[in-house]
Amino acid sequence: MADSLYDRLGGIDAITAVVGSFRDRVAGDDRINLKFARTDLARLTKMLIDQVCEATGGPCRYTGRSMKEAHASMGVTNGEFDALVEDLVATLNQFNVGKAEQDDLLGLLGPMKSEIVEVTSKEVGTPLPDAFQAAPAMRN
Ligand code: HEM
Repeated sequence: MADSLYDRLGGIDAITAVVGSFRDRVAGDDRINLKFARTDLARLTKMLIDQVCEATGGPCRYTGRSMKEAHASMGVTNGEFDALVEDLVATLNQFNVGKAEQDDLLGLLGPMKSEIVEVTSKEVGTPLPDAFQAAPAMRN
């Protein structure tokens, strides 16, 4: 049987390192970082690791909210979605992740776009609406 994408990415240690660096890159990106104003970053980091690990065939279980629920009333634009994907690709390049693995990962995440984008616009740096309800901070 062919190796899972999880294994080809380098398993949990590699995924953890990539997600941490991606999160830092997003935090420094004025095109999208306003959206994270009320977010518990420890929770977000854990959820992203679990989501990528599970989606790529690894031994994790994602326990977070659905993509629709997690991003509801956040007012994410097409331009902001594309900015986040750009940050992800830059991070994957930084970690020397191969083109085939990048394509496979983006193939898994790309279809989530319709559940995340709420505003048809190329605009970036739009504020987080007051109505947005952040997930509760992680306990432990
Ligand atoms: C394919 C692209 C994306 C994926 C796979 C993704 C994945 C996730 C996941 C797994 C969570 C955690 C949900 C939870 O805590 O229950 C989350 C939360 C979040 N996402 Fe995304 N996301 C994507 C795109 C975006 C974009 C484009 C933005 C904004 C520009 C964004 C902003 C956020 C914010 C601010 C949170 C935290 C919400 C909170 O505090 O409750 N995401 N995302």
